[in-house]
Amino acid sequence: MTDTVRTQVAIIGAGPAGLLLSHLLAKAGIESVVIDSRTRDEIEHTIRAGILEQGTVEILSESGASDRVRTVGNRHEGVELRFAGEGHRIDFEALVGRAVWLFPQHEALKDLIAVRLAEGQDLRFNVTAQRVEGAETDRPRVIATDAEGRPLEIEADFVVGADGSRSVARAAVSGSSTGGYFREYPFAWFGILCEAPPSSDELIYSNSPNGFALISQRSATIQRMYLQCDPDLDPNAMSDRQIWDDLQSRVDGHTLIEGPIFQRDVLRFRSFVAHELLRGRVALIGDAAHTVPPTGAKGMNLAVADVVLLNNALQALLLDDDSRLLEAFPETALKRIWKAQHFSWWMTSMLHVGPDATDFDRLRQVGELRSVVESEAGRRYLAEAYTGWPLEGR
Ligand code: PHB
Repeated sequence: MTDTVRTQVAIIGAGPAGLLLSHLLAKAGIESVVIDSRTRDEIEHTIRAGILEQGTVEILSESGASDRVRTVGNRHEGVELRFAGEGHRIDFEALVGRAVWLFPQHEALKDLIAVRLAEGQDLRFNVTAQRVEGAETDRPRVIATDAEGRPLEIEADFVVGADGSRSVARAAVSGSSTGGYFREYPFAWFGILCEAPPSSDELIYSNSPNGFALISQRSATIQRMYLQCDPDLDPNAMSDRQIWDDLQSRVDGHTLIEGPIFQRDVLRFRSFVAHELLRGRVALIGDAAHTVPPTGAKGMNLAVADVVLLNNALQALLLDDDSRLLEAFPETALKRIWKAQHFSWWMTSMLHVGPDATDFDRLRQVGELRSVVESEAGRRYLAEAYTGWPLEGR
């Protein structure tokens, strides 16, 4: 027997996009059901990047989705770009009067899950969506299996695929689960967590002849750092000593405080935009719609920008029977998505050393970095993009 549930908006994926959308819809009186194939524990403990744009922080805190973002998160008024043995601060506050917050994604997810459950929201873990049907009808549905493996159908007025880069909903929107514009990169990031005090108050993005390194933080006692690596690197192949020597060499002129490394992972790099974001009454948001390499720190912020637009569009559709904002959603969302794609690609290509880089490529890259840091226009462009363009629809 198939269990059938009826709701206004069925949301696949309890990541930042799906949970925030359900929270904003509920505030407007629109009911939703959110499902995710993962357990609550997996969602709350998977390590993800941590930079939130000012606009993202404003939405999370003003909507009551996360009240720890401003108290536990750390406000950063700049970043350092490092190359040729010197650091250059990009002063966000002075250049654009804005800042970013370091608050890891899984911390935001803990808050969002707690708020949704406290408000009695229908949020189901361990429920796996198989496919979405009826996109072009006014009763689209999600075909899924519940935590016990029993068939479950969610019938809704609207279905949202917020189900990440391996989206199941994508096939119903763009006709193919993989179809999209994409680019692979010949490198990845080797990420570590270590027990040590911070080596810097702000993030350091460092270009060096040995490859890129990023020095980030987590707390007074735990730090997050990354080094560019081969996508096939076995994270256990390097000793702690080798990792520290490699990191130290890549931030040439700045000494890192070392400590025991207790977590290692390899992050693949990909740029992707789905061919379609909307079909009938099914839309894609977040990583289901687009993936960016982590260098621009845009992933979660872009997901939140999609949510702001789709939230407005769904309120107009479901409360006022007005579909104009929904029809405009793909075009409006794609403008920001492609700007963020460009910024993420630009930061990546400016800072990393490709496996086939020639001396010309290396020297040109240093010329590019100098053009950015020695020009107020260059620094301002970086500051504007990094802290986030104004959010449409707010
Ligand atoms: C992180 O702290 O995990 C982080 C920060 C900035 C990035 C990517 C990751 O661009």
